[in-house]
Amino acid sequence: MFTKDHIISIRDFSKEEVDYVLDRAEELEIYARGNESCNLLEGKVLANLFYEPSTRTRLSFEAAMVRLGGETINIYSQESSSVAKGENLADTIRTVAGYCDVIALRHPQEGASRMAAAFSSVPIINAGDGAGQHPTQTLLDLYTIRREGLLDGLKIALIGDLKYGRTVHSLAYALSLYGATLFFVSPSALKMPEEIKSDLKEMGAEIYEYTEVKEVIQEVKVLYVTRIQKERFPDPTEYSKVAGTYRITTDILKENEDVVVMHPLPRVNEIDVEVDKTKHARYFTQSFYGVPVRMAILSILLGK
Ligand code: NCD
Repeated sequence: MFTKDHIISIRDFSKEEVDYVLDRAEELEIYARGNESCNLLEGKVLANLFYEPSTRTRLSFEAAMVRLGGETINIYSQESSSVAKGENLADTIRTVAGYCDVIALRHPQEGASRMAAAFSSVPIINAGDGAGQHPTQTLLDLYTIRREGLLDGLKIALIGDLKYGRTVHSLAYALSLYGATLFFVSPSALKMPEEIKSDLKEMGAEIYEYTEVKEVIQEVKVLYVTRIQKERFPDPTEYSKVAGTYRITTDILKENEDVVVMHPLPRVNEIDVEVDKTKHARYFTQSFYGVPVRMAILSILLGK
């Protein structure tokens, strides 16, 4: 069962609700692959409002909608929309809600989706709000992990920018529902925020903090690698101090033959391209799973 008007934060989900979305995604995967056609969302319109760059999130929402027989309308940037003329988000949302049945919103400000939901007559899906949350990415991450048979009681390393990375914020919460042990690996300037750590402990997650991948690689089943979020640094010199801190190579992967490497992408240089050819790499499969998972989300929100 699943009764949500909007998808704003993964924290609004129970384990049963997450399982429901993942089960649904599994049913829809055949259509995501294009092997069979489907008109479940015929006549429905998704508006993608993307005020930050995106490749996977926007296109997989679009692919999901189109593969289910629906259509999409798009705003690609602040500059190309009336935001550039000074329009506020509330007015944009009230307007766009009149043109569509569901809105996927990516916005640089944390909390933007929750605010948008207050003004919207159609469901809002948070497609990333600043350094806040990225719930649909988390659902596809969980889908990928479940496909590996690793979802319950997973030992996982979250690596990279744990301060500004919204994907790891959402994912840490969701994995805590499944009894995960979380190994946080980051430079000391980019640690997981205290507030999130205390929430996670309250949820019963075991948490450990490190600065080097080699300290944890033998302990874990999954390395979840992230990009240092350059665009969120208030000071570029602070970014230059931590840029290039981590790089997963085939050499380090020799320490754990079975470890699965995930990444929400885009990667800059956190994963050596040589890793792509190894049995460890799962990041491109993971990005494909964005389609069935977003199909599931759209069809559930639209009552189909
Ligand atoms: C992530 C994001 O936008 O938060 N990308 C994505 O949605 N796949 C990660 C990132 O930009 O580093």
